[in-house]
Amino acid sequence: MLWLLFCVVDVLVASFEVTVTNKHLLAIRGHPAVLGCEFTPDPDPDLSSLVVTWQRQEDARVVHSFYYQQDQLDRQSVKYHNRTSLYISELHKGNASLRIAAVRPKDAGLYLCIVSNTKGTGRALIQVTYGALYSEPRLSIHVNSSALKVQFETEGFPKPEVIWLGEHDQNLSYHLEIHGQTEDGLYFIKSICEAQKPVVNITFTLKNHLLNQNLQRPVFLGYDENTTDHMIIILAVLSVVCILLVIGIICLAVQKQNKQRSSL
Ligand SMILES: *[C@@H]1O[C@H](CO)[C@@H](O)[C@H](O)[C@H]1NC(C)=O
Ligand SMILES: *[C@@H]1O[C@H](CO)[C@@H](O)[C@H](O)[C@H]1NC(C)=O
Ligand SMILES: *[C@@H]1O[C@H](CO)[C@@H](O)[C@H](O)[C@H]1NC(C)=O
Ligand SMILES: *[C@@H]1O[C@H](CO)[C@@H](O)[C@H](O)[C@H]1NC(C)=O
Ligand SMILES: *[C@@H]1O[C@H](CO)[C@@H](O)[C@H](O)[C@H]1NC(C)=O
Repeated sequence: MLWLLFCVVDVLVASFEVTVTNKHLLAIRGHPAVLGCEFTPDPDPDLSSLVVTWQRQEDARVVHSFYYQQDQLDRQSVKYHNRTSLYISELHKGNASLRIAAVRPKDAGLYLCIVSNTKGTGRALIQVTYGALYSEPRLSIHVNSSALKVQFETEGFPKPEVIWLGEHDQNLSYHLEIHGQTEDGLYFIKSICEAQKPVVNITFTLKNHLLNQNLQRPVFLGYDENTTDHMIIILAVLSVVCILLVIGIICLAVQKQNKQRSSL
């Protein structure tokens, strides 16, 4: 008798399932994120008994919900307004995946996919991690009579690894400032490397390990003697031409004066 009961319970449990595609999802700032979730569909194609609720586990905030055959967004958290959608045409196949447009820092956290239909009720959990690619580093160079400083600035998330390499791939010492995390969820990075004049050949490297981002920006500053020599020659030629022109104009003026005198 007991054995039979276990069997029935077993069948009931096994008959309905909610599963997530990935337990951990890496969401990138500004890009859409798709939280994959599947359930055992029921044969009823009109979805009348289907209830899908996506919510944050931490505080039970509603991210998205669907019942009575349509999206129900009255109780949706303001933070998710206009940013979420289900794949409605896929629901009858058991696809309850949630799409979040343009990921923001606060989207990081735990999400529950809760589904029920005539076959049962179930839930599954997804952890979403947030990352932001570092922007193209902005280069600036500061020079005074004795030193030369190369500086890069960029923003991203999480904290990066910064390395400066010299001409022979040796590690150089540098200064690194990390500010933030700003309201838009980014760290502001400023790194300065002091270089030896006159020739500079150094490479700034920034790695965002979470997103497998590896930026390498070489900087080469050469002091080319030939350029200076050419400049001197060009300047010399220009001066000579100027002097000749001035002499010519004076000669013409003198000639004119002489003619005027002789005609008088
Ligand atoms: C659900 O449907 C969407 C849109 O077709 C698709 O990208 C996604 O991979 C599907 N997810 C699952 C778990 O089948
Ligand atoms: C959502 O979109 C509607 C219509 O485009 C707009 O009126 C509303 O302000 C938006 N809500 C938010 C929170 O952005
Ligand atoms: C040039 O910059 C270096 C590094 O900031 C500083 O130590 C030095 O005093 C500066 N030299 C002059 C002449 O301003
Ligand atoms: C700078 O150094 C790198 C690494 O040693 C080298 O490959 C490259 O040719 C150098 N660049 C110039 C312009 O000399
Ligand atoms: C340079 O520094 C990085 C990180 O600090 C380290 O992994 C690497 O081995 C160092 N390379 C050399 C040539 O010292």
